[in-house]
Amino acid sequence: MKIRLVRGSYETARGDLLAVALPEKRLPAPLKKLDRRLGNLLSAAIRRKEIAGKPGDMLYLSAPGLPVKHVLFVGIGKPEDLTLDRVRQAAGRAARAAQDRGLARVSTDIADRAVKETSPAEIVQAVAEGFHLSTYRFEKYKSKKNGKPPIGQVTLLFSKTPPRGLAGAAERGRTIARAVLWARDLISHPSSDMTPRDMAGEARSMARRRGKVAVRVFGRDALRRLKMGGILAVGRGSDEPPCLIVAEYRGRKGRPVALVGKTVTFDTGGISIKPSAGMDQMKDDMSGGAAVLATIQAAADLGLPVHLIGVLPAVENMPSGKAYKPGDVLKSMSGRTIEVLNTDAEGRLILADALHYAATLKPELIVDVATLTGACSVAVGNRAIAMMGTSREAMDALKEAGERTGERVWELPLWEEYEDLIKSDVADCKNIGDRSAGTIVGGIFLKPFAGKVPWVHLDIASTAWTEKDLPYVPKGSAGIAVRLLMHFLEKRLGRR
Ligand code: BES
Ligand code: MN
Ligand code: ZN
Repeated sequence: MKIRLVRGSYETARGDLLAVALPEKRLPAPLKKLDRRLGNLLSAAIRRKEIAGKPGDMLYLSAPGLPVKHVLFVGIGKPEDLTLDRVRQAAGRAARAAQDRGLARVSTDIADRAVKETSPAEIVQAVAEGFHLSTYRFEKYKSKKNGKPPIGQVTLLFSKTPPRGLAGAAERGRTIARAVLWARDLISHPSSDMTPRDMAGEARSMARRRGKVAVRVFGRDALRRLKMGGILAVGRGSDEPPCLIVAEYRGRKGRPVALVGKTVTFDTGGISIKPSAGMDQMKDDMSGGAAVLATIQAAADLGLPVHLIGVLPAVENMPSGKAYKPGDVLKSMSGRTIEVLNTDAEGRLILADALHYAATLKPELIVDVATLTGACSVAVGNRAIAMMGTSREAMDALKEAGERTGERVWELPLWEEYEDLIKSDVADCKNIGDRSAGTIVGGIFLKPFAGKVPWVHLDIASTAWTEKDLPYVPKGSAGIAVRLLMHFLEKRLGRR
């Protein structure tokens, strides 16, 4: 998909589809003119209440008597309420409509608008993201691929000549979207084709293609030397050996930001086995690790002056004669002992080692990303990432990044009173609480393993996978948190 920026009008646009942003309430002058050219079909549809310009509204017209073959009106709501994510969503809807109809050359004015506190470059980037993200398909295992041609060319129309630098914003959107789509691919693969070893291979080939990323993989022997009792225990039940993948991108000198990603390539629950219904979903339990690798890829591709270290504890959680069991007591790398009362609360056990390992690298900040708790969808539903942590500054910045990227986060408390929930009779802590505050208990459990390093925990359990098409996330793996982290890292640079 190529995106170019031109000065042009509705009347001169060519190609297969003209996607026009339709605001709610009043039609601006150029839209009135277009309506007349279309024999007042738009105003008639508005009068019949078939379309009002609300976000999600769409009206498709064929053979309109213009140089372009089809026209699609896409609602964007009231101009004064317009947000960057609404623009991204409108672009996503237009792109999907074009792709579904096999329309390969698209012109659109969606990027030519004002959003408060937002630069034209950010808007162009968001439109590019909308196009690339919404048209994702995972067809590796289909003998018959969807025959419809992909969108080949996108023309962003501007009423005034767009400044030269704006084209770079579209390119930036493409680079970030490419990373998100890679994360989606990793997550979409069946777990038998995306084992811990496969994840390590993916990290290595990403690094090899870029040359600026260094990857180290610690196998079982190294994990033993490092005394990573959590990763070893969870990985013990599987014939697929566990590993710790460490990927470093050094875009500048100085202390790194560590990104820790839960990488459970399949979560059966282990001996505390999950019900069969829906267990297939648990191939997405490595979404945190995928997000971390994709963020490192995007940062390297953009040459961001940041120092990042990705830490991925990778395991398959299986029941077997060798598997760890309820009642077992583990010793994590930090020395803290953990009573396992449920082998399905495995993510926190591997993250315990990974967080401690990350802390030994003396980073200025640790952010972990994990599909940690089913309770996350009870607490915040599938519209937010649950966030907890010890760095007020980083959490505020992530909140802001969430609003702008549409990957919104919502903070939950880590009050010390919750610590009682994981007190153990036999060890320093236990890996589950009672039925209450499941997502918070996850955060409370992880907290000591980050030591004194400022830390943020992102629970993506309810957003990693979507059951229905969203404007720019087709049903399936979302590749969530990549754009969130990228925006966060870029903003952090601005503040230095
Ligand atoms: N990977 C799951 C969390 C999960 C569940 C993500 C459903 C997405 C959808 C995690 O390892 C898990 O099983 N958590 C348990 C924790 C419990 C035993 C304290 C859960 O949420 O049930
Ligand atoms: Mn589990
Ligand atoms: Zn899990």
